[in-house]
Amino acid sequence: MKIILTLQLVLLFFLVSCTKDKAAPNQVFIPSDCDSIAKSFSADVQPIINNSCVGCHNSSSPGAGYNFDNYSDINSNLTVFFKTINHDNGVVPMPYQQGKLSDSLIQVIDCWIESGAPNN
Ligand code: HEC
Repeated sequence: MKIILTLQLVLLFFLVSCTKDKAAPNQVFIPSDCDSIAKSFSADVQPIINNSCVGCHNSSSPGAGYNFDNYSDINSNLTVFFKTINHDNGVVPMPYQQGKLSDSLIQVIDCWIESGAPNN
């Protein structure tokens, strides 16, 4: 009986550790896809956010209280930020009442988050 329980725990550990290496919630792309993706914050990520989000999420008009015109405020809200652009359940999909961003733009952001969301 004890052996079976131990085996179940070992199996559970492997199952959990296999699914644990995802930084972004509901990650769409496998991490190896990110190797060839340009994902600098200032050169690649911030322009997407400036184009698609900052019009409604800036310091003078922070939609839902979120200002996304700088690294620090983006970095402190990464989970909800990614959920909205990924159109996950439980959040209002963004950009607000517009089409979802293209897969390639979402991939740039996802890969940037996967790489630790550096301010580079
Ligand atoms: C046209 C204006 C507009 C644009 C563009 C826009 N937002 Fe929003 N955003 C809103 C409004 C309005 C709300 C509040 C919606 C509500 O509560 O019903 C909101 C809410 C949010 C929230 C909170 C959602 C929640 O469920 O808690 C986040 C996070 C967010 N936006 C991120 C983004 C991101 C990321 C982008 C760019 C991809 C973006 N928004 C683009 C207007 C906008």
